[in-house]
Amino acid sequence: MKRFAVFASGYGSNLQAIIDALKKDKVSARLCLVVSDNKKAFALKRALKAGIPTVTFDPQSFVTRQAMDRAMIKELRTFHVDFVVLAGYMRILSPVFVKAFHNKILNIHPSLLPSFKGAHAIKDAFDYGVRSTGVTVHLVDEKVDHGPILAQEALSIRAKDTLRTLEARIHRTEHKMYPKIIDLFAKGKISTRRLAA
Ligand code: GAR
Repeated sequence: MKRFAVFASGYGSNLQAIIDALKKDKVSARLCLVVSDNKKAFALKRALKAGIPTVTFDPQSFVTRQAMDRAMIKELRTFHVDFVVLAGYMRILSPVFVKAFHNKILNIHPSLLPSFKGAHAIKDAFDYGVRSTGVTVHLVDEKVDHGPILAQEALSIRAKDTLRTLEARIHRTEHKMYPKIIDLFAKGKISTRRLAA
């Protein structure tokens, strides 16, 4: 069975959805480590409660991003991690890290990429007035919120939607979608159109 780590910086609702799916045997892989860049992340409490080892890498303790990423790679090797799942990890990974886990880093982003990259994608789409937005799961490359797409789900923005209701709908979609895609990825049953070509 493949082993994976989840990286999270904050609230960790996607991490929780993954933990819940694992408990129901809906993800055929082992979550062996939760990594954060923020020792106050609620995600860490969720991991502890589920009995999953955690480690925090504080960016301020490292001179460069590469140095931090090298330390993270070392830690992941110690835990025999096969692939990495970013779930609200709000830090850019250096090329060193991306190369070390080439095509083995998944990210979830709350928009239909390549639209609305960045840290405020739901609000940006809502404020722009688009009629459809959604969720993207993709493999991570050297650019931010970028890389071969594994899955997308579109959501219509309804006239009665507020930012709050749209956020709730997007998060519900994420929580259903991410564990399923992680399961397929772990089984080698999902590919990208670009990789398949
Ligand atoms: C999620 O909506 C995720 O898609 C987003 O951060 C949120 C984390 O929520 N990620 C990005 O915007 C990446 N650019 P969570 O901590 O409750 O899982």
